[in-house]
Amino acid sequence: MELYVDSANLKEIRHAASMGIISGVTTNPSLLAKEDPNQDIKTLLLDIHASVGGHLSVEVVSTDTAGMLREAEEILKWAPEATIKIPMIADGLAAVKELNRQDIPTNVTLIFSATQALAAANAGATYVSVFLGRLDDIGADGVQVVRDVAEIWDMNDLDALIIAASIRHPIHVMECAKAGAHISTVPYKVLMQCIKHPLTDSGLQAFLNDYNKMQSEKEKLGTK
Ligand code: E4P
Repeated sequence: MELYVDSANLKEIRHAASMGIISGVTTNPSLLAKEDPNQDIKTLLLDIHASVGGHLSVEVVSTDTAGMLREAEEILKWAPEATIKIPMIADGLAAVKELNRQDIPTNVTLIFSATQALAAANAGATYVSVFLGRLDDIGADGVQVVRDVAEIWDMNDLDALIIAASIRHPIHVMECAKAGAHISTVPYKVLMQCIKHPLTDSGLQAFLNDYNKMQSEKEKLGTK
């Protein structure tokens, strides 16, 4: 399962990219709204893409098909490698169908059920983003939806890539990998939690302490 970072914060994204653990970035209007309002969004998104390469999802904000298609055309002028992120609504599916006809990659967002994922795949989506954390937030089982989607994909040999989105903690990442998601888009904080373990930190500290102890012994014996 590939990892993307779910963020619009350049510092976080650059750090995640420097570790070589991510192969793309997903953004959305809420993530962009958390950043400096004086920042030019196009420049920010291009800097993000230059820092990571790979996948970059850029979301439209129109809610009608014609508006989404206009926005997609505009986005692709300044970010030709972008994947167009389209909301899971009827007009969105019509936009996905048309973009697919033009060979333009799409990521259908705000998917909360297996039937929504199936509809998006049939419309021609390149990626389907299942928002499991928001399902957990309302007391439903988000990972089960990812499992259901992956099972349907296997049985029907569907091409769209399953993105596990709205990740809240490392266990979500592990469960989505086991469930068969192709990609997990993970907030920076959770990525950092995924790579850390207290036993790694204490183990490293013990190795360094022992190494330093050995060095001082050698210095004392003049055998350094
Ligand atoms: C994914 O594409 C979305 O940007 C994201 O995962 C939404 O997550 P949230 O529920 O934390 O807002």
